[in-house]
Amino acid sequence: MKRIAFHDREREIKEIMNILDSEPSLITFVYGPINSGKTTLISHLIKELPDEYAPFYVNLRGRFIVDYEDFLNVLFEIDEISGVNNVTEYSKSILKDLGAVSGIPIPINLFEQIFEKKDKSKDMFKYIEQFFMQISKTRTPILIIDELQVVGDLKIDGLLMYKLFNFFIRLTKELHLCHVFGVSSDSLFIEKVYSEAMLDGRCRYLLVDDFDSVTAAVFLEEHGFTEAEKAVAWEYCGGKPVNLIEMIYADNRERIAKDMLKTRITQLKDLLDYLDYTKPRIMIGDDEYMVEKEDIVDILNRFVDTEYIDDKGLNRPAKHLLIKDNILFFDPHTGVIKLQSRMNLLAIQEVMKDEKN
Ligand SMILES: Nc1ncnc2c1ncn2[C@@H]1O[C@H](COP(=O)(O)OP(=O)(O)OP(=O)(O)O)[C@@H](O)[C@H]1O
Ligand SMILES: [Mg+2]
Repeated sequence: MKRIAFHDREREIKEIMNILDSEPSLITFVYGPINSGKTTLISHLIKELPDEYAPFYVNLRGRFIVDYEDFLNVLFEIDEISGVNNVTEYSKSILKDLGAVSGIPIPINLFEQIFEKKDKSKDMFKYIEQFFMQISKTRTPILIIDELQVVGDLKIDGLLMYKLFNFFIRLTKELHLCHVFGVSSDSLFIEKVYSEAMLDGRCRYLLVDDFDSVTAAVFLEEHGFTEAEKAVAWEYCGGKPVNLIEMIYADNRERIAKDMLKTRITQLKDLLDYLDYTKPRIMIGDDEYMVEKEDIVDILNRFVDTEYIDDKGLNRPAKHLLIKDNILFFDPHTGVIKLQSRMNLLAIQEVMKDEKN
């Protein structure tokens, strides 16, 4: 089986290492278009980190979370063997062989104690703080939560997200105890984070975008692409790693690129056809809006001769639907809206030609 080695990301790795080099003081939000390589970058970094760091990685993808019980089960890695019931002792014992852990280790009896408490969030945060406090005596803890938007709208006595943010602020700005990274592809979630007053001046943003043209070209050269194949790859896939990899594996590279585009065009036509019959409903804050097809078409038409547009004058419900459907990517940091992929851009240009006729 052919395995594709991790490629580049030098700039992003340098930026993250600079963050890790200094005392934790801000929460870092890692964001970017779908499939740009955020999770791969983080996993690669975790493997390469020097021993002075102790990373704890939690991925919320695909996890069904409706209450604290679910959240606790995802956040913690329950240690059923350790009989220790004291945080200090447990942290010391775990440091001896802290391999690649997913979640924050906790002995089962302490976990059950938190589970039984009425105010679970208070005890859960207290345990994590004490655990990190012990770890930090010898190593720098790093907490990474991937797909953070999964708990974005979760209400359990108020929004869980606010409690989490407050806790993250305590771990970073107040105690300087632990580096905190929140990762998300969901630009509506990042937009919310961005406009959240409680995070103002307490977080930073790190964009992990698709490869740029030079990085993509080097990647493809390493996999034996000719100049002509590289040009086709860039034309159809831009720098989206996942699409480039599909081309690397293909026997007929041009054909696979054209097939991927055909699929995208069909999906887009399907969406427009669906909008002829239905007006989808979108929640913005607490209000519900109906999305009109003409507003969707108006936004898509703007991409016929440009790759980037700004936020001004766009119909908001239509914009939200296109972001939610992973067609548009909104970067709240720059205010720029682009398509989630080069493939989307080509598909829109093709479909909009037909809409006009
Ligand atoms: N730097 C890289 N080198 C080699 N392959 C990569 C790289 N980055 C991403 N990939 C490939 O692209 C695929 C998608 O990447 P990944 O899942 O990390 O993206 P993501 O941004 O986390 O996606 P999502 O938006 O779904 O969270 C990976 O399975 C991996 O094969
Ligand atoms: Mg990911």
